[in-house]
Amino acid sequence: MKIIEVKNYQEMSLAAAQYIINMLKNTSKLTLGLATGGTPQGVYQHLIEDYKKNGTSYAQVTSFNLDEYIGLSKDDPNSYYRYMYENLFKHINISLQQINIPSGMNTNLQSECEEYENKIHQHGGIDLQLLGIGSNGHIGFNEPGTSFQSKTHVVGLTQSTREANARYFTSIEEVPTQAITMGIQSIYKSKEILLLASGKAKQDAMVKLLNGDVTESFPASILKQHPNATIIADEEALFGVKDVSLFR
Ligand code: PGA
Repeated sequence: MKIIEVKNYQEMSLAAAQYIINMLKNTSKLTLGLATGGTPQGVYQHLIEDYKKNGTSYAQVTSFNLDEYIGLSKDDPNSYYRYMYENLFKHINISLQQINIPSGMNTNLQSECEEYENKIHQHGGIDLQLLGIGSNGHIGFNEPGTSFQSKTHVVGLTQSTREANARYFTSIEEVPTQAITMGIQSIYKSKEILLLASGKAKQDAMVKLLNGDVTESFPASILKQHPNATIIADEEALFGVKDVSLFR
C-alpha cells in the first residue's frame, strides 16, 4: 500500500482526478468502481472540468458503484443513483447503459446482489476502484465484523454510519436502515484501488488502517494486503499516523 500525501482536500481531489484521467487516456476500455459521499465530490468536479476543457471521453467506460440504500428509488434526492447522476454522470459522455448501481428497490434483494456480483465478473472485474473510508473503517457499507470473503450483500447500517449520513437527510429517522453493498472480496478483487481521506474526521481511521493490524473488525485493513492499492490523503487525515514514510 502506497501513500501520496497532499496538503488539503483540494489537492487530494486534483491528484485523484489526474490519476483517473491518466488511466482514461491510457486504456481503450475502462471499468471504474465509483464511490459516493463527501470525499469524492471534489474529484468528480475536476473530472467534469477536464471533460469540458479537454474532452476526455467516457464513451468506453463502464462504472460500478459500491452501494445503494434499500428503499430509495433512483429519483430520490438521497439515493446514490441520484448522487452519481447529479455529481458526475449528467455532465460527461458516459452512456447510462454502462452505469451500474445496485437497486435498493428490487423486491428480490438476494437476486439483485447475485446479479450485481455476476455483472462485475462478466465485465472482467473492476480496473480501478475509488474508495472513501468510514470513521469505523468501513469501505462501501461493509461495517466492522464483515467477512473479508463477502460478496455483494444486504447490510444493516450501524448507528454511527446513519449519524454520519444524516447530514444529507432532514432527520436521522429518514436515513435508511439497510443498504446493498459490494462485499469486501468484491472490492478487493479490483485490479487497482484508490482510497481517499481528508480532514480531522478521518484521523483515527488512518491511524488504525496504517498502524493497526489486518482484522475484520476494521474492514479497510484488508487493503494493506492488496498488490496495487494507493491512498491519497491530506496532512490533517494523516496527523497521528506513525511512520508515514514507510508507505511512500
Ligand atoms: P464520506 O464517507 O466521504 O462522506 O466521509 C466515506 C464513507 O463513509 O465511506
